[in-house]
Amino acid sequence: MHTATEERIIRPAKNVHGSLRLPGDKSISHRYGMLAAFAEGTSRFTNFSTGADCASTLGCMEALGAQVQRMENGSVEVTGVGGRVTPSNAPLDCGNSGSTMRMISGLLAPQEGNFTLVGDASLSRRPMGRIQKPLEAMGARLTLTEGHAPLMIEGAPLKAIDYTTPVPSAQVKTCVLLAGLQTAGTTTVRESLRTRDHSELALRAFGATLTRTVNSISIAGPQALHAIEAAVPGDISSAAFFLCAAALFPGSGLLLDSLGLNPTRATLLDVLTALGAHISVLNLEEKNAELVGTVQISAPPEGLGSTTVSGALAAQLIDELPVLAAIGPYTSGGIRIRDAKELRVKESDRIALVVKNLRAMGAEVEEFEDGLDVPGGQTLHGATIDSGDDHRIAMAFSVAALRAEGETLIQGAESAAISFPEFFELLDLVAVR
Ligand code: S3P
Repeated sequence: MHTATEERIIRPAKNVHGSLRLPGDKSISHRYGMLAAFAEGTSRFTNFSTGADCASTLGCMEALGAQVQRMENGSVEVTGVGGRVTPSNAPLDCGNSGSTMRMISGLLAPQEGNFTLVGDASLSRRPMGRIQKPLEAMGARLTLTEGHAPLMIEGAPLKAIDYTTPVPSAQVKTCVLLAGLQTAGTTTVRESLRTRDHSELALRAFGATLTRTVNSISIAGPQALHAIEAAVPGDISSAAFFLCAAALFPGSGLLLDSLGLNPTRATLLDVLTALGAHISVLNLEEKNAELVGTVQISAPPEGLGSTTVSGALAAQLIDELPVLAAIGPYTSGGIRIRDAKELRVKESDRIALVVKNLRAMGAEVEEFEDGLDVPGGQTLHGATIDSGDDHRIAMAFSVAALRAEGETLIQGAESAAISFPEFFELLDLVAVR
């Protein structure tokens, strides 16, 4: 839980230039850390996420009996509990991380013992009923307070289910699969919109067998997991801030090396291309079934066009929507976002905060329950930005600030460290002033 709040001044930039290698993907690091801690043997990861969220996952898994060693070169070694955790007397602190709380619940519900999961103020406001429902259908005993953390689990053997997720959520899918991994029979998760598939790929990498159709994934339990060695691909959701920054400046040139390009995560590249950015992907390779490559981007001389993000695209781009909306005023035709109601229950109400902060910078913007319309062709001025202690809001408006007139003050800038502690340092490195 943080107390101090830090302010950062972002000065306008003339251009964005350079080449970066980004820290490991947050979603993949959560899964590798959690599965390694549950598996048999010692796993080793290079380029593990440096974000506080993944540290929350590792901290919880250590409290459950796994051994975690963080090396000086940034790699992480995890020795797992071989399928049986040790219940901890103290509550498991998930910090700000919805992924930690929702995914670990699936891992713990079939284990022996009682567990209490807590989080910070933001996480304690987020909906947890979405994991309670499928886990209770499997026979799990969970207690929430009005649908929120603290979350109490009384572990017990479960029964396999066939579950259709009502809202697209990779965290809920993972929660059910992790319970299914330890449960006799075949557990199936069906989703109408395909969400990120890192759990499926990671479970396979750790030796599990899963079967997949177009819109379902099944796991026959119980199965054991075995340690792996892996390099975590660079985080494309962190890269999004730099890709959008580069897309704003005609004559820009940015190269991002060893970036995760899993097709369920790389939609932003298509959207930026549709907006007119020039993007090329080099050196594409597969590592533990995850695609990794180098991305080169430059902005079109005539500036960015316009786009609408809705339907399946909105679900796939959910973490990138704040920064996309924040650059909307600098496009010629604007950015329209719909079917993104989930944004309201992230680390903050991201629709409300994007609207509030765009207005603070002098932009015209229209708010909808499930999205927003940001007209193009606008000039913004520097302003005081309320990040709401939400990492993606702090970083999105740091990008918008690069093209504003005058300086911008980001309040709660330290929240960037939830996913990307190096953000401001790297931004200074590539922003030409
Ligand atoms: C994540 C899934 C998404 C995303 C979050 C990370 C994951 O959340 O917004 O940042 O790693 O599975 P939902 O599952 O709630 O959509």
